Amino acid sequence: MLAGSNPVRFLRATDVQAVTAALAAGPEKLPEFTDATDWDNWIRERDTVIRGRIDHGIEDSLSELILFGTSFPAPPKLAAAADAVNAAGDLTANARARLDAFIQAVDQLDSERFRIVLEFLRRQRITQDELPAFLSGIVRRFALEEAGLKKKQARADVGVSPETSLLINYAIEETLRALKSSRALPAHIQRIAVIGPGLDLAGDPDVNDFCPPQSIQPFAVLEAVLRLGAATPTEVQLTAVDFNPLVVSHLRTSVVKAQGGHSYVLQLPHPAGWNATAISYWQHFGDTIGAPAAPLAAPSGIELRAVAMKPQITARMTVDDLNIVTQTLETIPGQEFDLVVATNLFAYYTRVEQTLALTSIARMLASGGILISNGISSSIKLSEFEDLGAHHVSYSDSDSGDDLVTYKRR
Ligand SMILES: C[S@@+](CC[C@H](N)C(=O)[O-])C[C@H]1O[C@@H](n2cnc3c(N)ncnc32)[C@H](O)[C@@H]1O
Repeated sequence: MLAGSNPVRFLRATDVQAVTAALAAGPEKLPEFTDATDWDNWIRERDTVIRGRIDHGIEDSLSELILFGTSFPAPPKLAAAADAVNAAGDLTANARARLDAFIQAVDQLDSERFRIVLEFLRRQRITQDELPAFLSGIVRRFALEEAGLKKKQARADVGVSPETSLLINYAIEETLRALKSSRALPAHIQRIAVIGPGLDLAGDPDVNDFCPPQSIQPFAVLEAVLRLGAATPTEVQLTAVDFNPLVVSHLRTSVVKAQGGHSYVLQLPHPAGWNATAISYWQHFGDTIGAPAAPLAAPSGIELRAVAMKPQITARMTVDDLNIVTQTLETIPGQEFDLVVATNLFAYYTRVEQTLALTSIARMLASGGILISNGISSSIKLSEFEDLGAHHVSYSDSDSGDDLVTYKRR
């Protein structure tokens, strides 16, 4: 049984009528449409264009793996992406050696990460003979962009990354705590949507890829609401929605495995430099919805915790393939979401696209429901939302952290 529950549909012209008028006053507008069919053709075409950016994001992750990965036998990793190209813009000997080692690993290694790489290459219809040229092309493009030798694409074309990490979830938990103490959080959260949960494919940039690919956010959000007493384990229902097929198939497989009694195990590295409260978050991650598990062997100097999520928690999740800019989940009246989390996603989109995504989310939220997000243009004001303000959460004493915004559905 595939874990997916809510009907997914494209946004309709009637869904966006109010925002079309609001956008008309700004610099970026929606095109004019003669009728509903005209709109429908346009939104479907936008869907194809936006989904076209997914592969570009995966190519960036592959480039990071090739240059910095530790999960395959290879010469020492590069210090920086810019070291992969010389002044003429060609790949350096070091980068070529790592590329060759990666190609061998694609052939020989049978880990989840390399199975995902193979799945991607098959989808691109890359043959064995074409592999070296294909991979050197993407690494070269990535390195030139990182070195500043090639202009990065404009926001509307840049690749959409699947990558994720633990710390943003600490910021989400702290934001939920603040909302609870100001009584802005619904008393009983029953339905949660995590939009764009992500998949840690290339690995954390500081610690690399010795952990298997993992998706942290759905578990972290569940843990946060349960820890805060805002939900009960037997009632709360989480839907993860993403448009990246790698993320969707990873999560769907995990749900099916959990329904067969298998635990989803998260490996959680502890890089240096976090402040005491962020470290405490890491130390207690999984206390509510998991149990400590044996961590994998970590490279020296890296402390690793592992947490096995209770299968009954994972088994209750549903997973939907949805582009939040062009589509929405059709919810049954009275069964809308109480909480939607969408972090590190809006920054990929133009003001018009962000407005469409917010329209879609507003349709999915119950009255009084909360959206926690970031990267939303402050000039967008949707009448469906009351702006509850921003929360800054620091991760380190030098104050690296995140600013999350919170909205309440009227
Ligand atoms: C950079 S990752 C962030 C992951 C996680 N939310 C976090 O904060 O660490 C962006 C995620 O959002 C998903 N995403 C981006 N645009 C999306 C869209 N239009 N519809 C659905 N998912 C989207 C990507 O596929 C990816 O999984």
